[in-house]
Amino acid sequence: MDWKSGNDVILEFDELIKSGKARPHTGPLKIGVDLGTANIVLAAVDQENRPVAGVTRRASVVRDGIVVDYMGAVSIVRQLKAELEDILGESLDFANAATAIPPGILEGNAKIIANVVDSADFNVTNVVDEPTAAATVLGIRNGAVVDVGGGTTGISILKDGEVVFTADEPTGGTHMSLVIAGNKKISFDEAEEIKIHDDQRVVFPIIKPVVEKMASIVHRFIQGYDVDTIYVVGGACEFDRFEQVFERETGIKTIKPVEPLLVTPLGIAFNCR
Ligand SMILES: Nc1ncnc2c1ncn2[C@@H]1O[C@H](COP(=O)(O)OP(=O)(O)OP(=O)(O)O)[C@@H](O)[C@H]1O
Ligand SMILES: [Mg+2]
Repeated sequence: MDWKSGNDVILEFDELIKSGKARPHTGPLKIGVDLGTANIVLAAVDQENRPVAGVTRRASVVRDGIVVDYMGAVSIVRQLKAELEDILGESLDFANAATAIPPGILEGNAKIIANVVDSADFNVTNVVDEPTAAATVLGIRNGAVVDVGGGTTGISILKDGEVVFTADEPTGGTHMSLVIAGNKKISFDEAEEIKIHDDQRVVFPIIKPVVEKMASIVHRFIQGYDVDTIYVVGGACEFDRFEQVFERETGIKTIKPVEPLLVTPLGIAFNCR
């Protein structure tokens, strides 16, 4: 897939989630389960990687790729699976599914993530790393993919379609909200609301130092690699000026797809075998 068709497919997936409908399809589905720190997303695509349906829910049962509430996580994945079954009008019991982990987490933790998906009666066929999943959707063969989620910022560097480096740092949208909470002396939940819904021109200056810090971390990691473009995805890069700050800090062209929050979940489904 190339950049433009990647964006088209992401928009199509976004519309399916918003409408709560499924696109007609034939053949077995490929399911992607993204157990994020802030959001859990289930994506269904057909064998040609066309989005068929999707469901999402805010949840805090996983933190930075580590399951902090196992039963809660299984229960939410089961509920979302039931929702998806309703939309699709078909059972997903033991359907093939892929899931993902932040780059570099311990093998034991990756296994627990897979177990959650397995316990919701999916057949786990693949566990990919998050930025790599995003790269699949965007058709990126060279450059750095940076997934700025709720809890972590994952980095994958690709060369000729191969992942040559991955890293993960504990910074993301949660840290932006903490900074807003401190600045305005309000609770985390209130800060989260303000961050997402208030005027970006007011909010962004407050969290800009966090974005600069993220960019400097990424810049440090890509030293020694021949990276001419940084691709940013994940919910925390939804701000209009996010790429601009990244570009200025790193001196490297930075671009963002439409609906960055949905890229990794969709890419996980693409990577279902
Ligand atoms: N419109 C928006 N503007 C700013 N931030 C947003 C917006 N929408 C979502 N976010 C933030 O994006 C983050 C969630 O992004 P995402 O769903 O990519 O993370 P995740 O996959 O759950 O987390 P992780 O990958 O770190 O485990 C949250 O911190 C949320 O507040
Ligand atoms: Mg994520």
